[in-house]
Amino acid sequence: MSDVRAFRAALAWMVDDPRTAGEAACVHHPDGLLLIEDGRVAAAGDWAALSPTLPADVPVDPLPGRLLTPGFVDAHVHFPQTDMIGAPGGPLLDWLARSTFPAERAFADLGHAQEAAEAFLDELLANGTTTAMVFGSVHRQATAALFEAALARDMRLIAGKSMMDLGPEGLNESCEAGQAETEALIRDWGSRGRLGYAVTPRFALSSSDAQLAGAGALLARHDHVWMQTHLAENPRELALVAERFPDRDYLAVYDRFGLVGPRSIFAHCIHMTDRSLHRMAQAGAAIAHCPSSNLFLGSGLFDLARADAHGVRTALGSDVGAGTSFSIPRTAGLALQVAQLRGGMLDPLRAFYLATLGGARALGLADRIGGFEPGREADIVALDLAATPLLARRLKGVTDLADILLALMILGDDRAVAGTWVAGVQRHPRRITVDRR
Ligand code: GUN
Ligand code: ZN
Repeated sequence: MSDVRAFRAALAWMVDDPRTAGEAACVHHPDGLLLIEDGRVAAAGDWAALSPTLPADVPVDPLPGRLLTPGFVDAHVHFPQTDMIGAPGGPLLDWLARSTFPAERAFADLGHAQEAAEAFLDELLANGTTTAMVFGSVHRQATAALFEAALARDMRLIAGKSMMDLGPEGLNESCEAGQAETEALIRDWGSRGRLGYAVTPRFALSSSDAQLAGAGALLARHDHVWMQTHLAENPRELALVAERFPDRDYLAVYDRFGLVGPRSIFAHCIHMTDRSLHRMAQAGAAIAHCPSSNLFLGSGLFDLARADAHGVRTALGSDVGAGTSFSIPRTAGLALQVAQLRGGMLDPLRAFYLATLGGARALGLADRIGGFEPGREADIVALDLAATPLLARRLKGVTDLADILLALMILGDDRAVAGTWVAGVQRHPRRITVDRR
């Protein structure tokens, strides 16, 4: 028997990029109906129009004061950095040495990794994030623990263990071990449930030429895996890359090893040449824009308009723990502010697109997630428009969707997330089930 349920609430989702499609990119039903069948969207639309078609036995959950949107996509986040969010030490390379690497060393302990994996996934769901592309530590077992925890929640998670044969003491691996362990993780986890694997050379400075070539070979061998790494984040990092590879720019280093393709996601991309942006667009590679992290570490201001002009797809990344919030709406709010500092404007509807459908497109998952079209996986977040007294005052009488979203991006965080559903099952807040037998 199929599991059918419906919600009555305000609904909003994007069907295209408003930068190119204009107003038609957005669907908003202030009084809407969302019908879920066996973990997928069966119908979504206006309550008055759709409710007469609803069979009498379908239970309807009324959610007044809530806005239902597709779950958020976090295209770049570090699982082993959950406990060190906001830790001291910026800029990037100093912060890595002082705060990040010590925290990641602790993931050699499987019990710690298992406990941290649950806390990490709790945070994602508490913030309405239902899909994430995740960096693990160098440790195979810790990354497997994350996959296991995500599988138990049926989450759409793409993750990979960091490859770092030039890593610091205690986080170092041999090139051969990094290759074999990545291969084993792809085999064990890369095709299970809603999980995916991302080959994860941490960045050019963490890996030898042989390891970068090995990562490229893995990508060539497994066409269902992704690739994630960092690119052009910090001036000192750029200088060290230029010292090691004097004959090419940073993206070309990855390109030489076969790491630039349509399933490649590059975090940051702040200090980019036009040639690199052109090449990314040509290859269909995507950028994870991480404004919270870029501000926290003082890395710089990403130029979204320039990436747009080159036709490069962009998603949003929290980049926790350099990012200071798991909230993708909060991250979107910072993206608005960074766009202004770059002399442009980011429309709240476009920011909402980046947080949902744009993120799904960047990951090549737009046929499954990111919207409420029938057949999409029912990853849903319920946003409480009166979550705090200030938000309630700000939104009193506001009906314009762009303004509602702007307020949520500036004032909202996990407090505004009233509920999160993964493939049609509510996973946040956790329901307490009472055994009545
Ligand atoms: N570059 C290499 N490793 C990292 C990391 O953990 N965080 C950030 N923000 N940049 C990196
Ligand atoms: Zn990162």
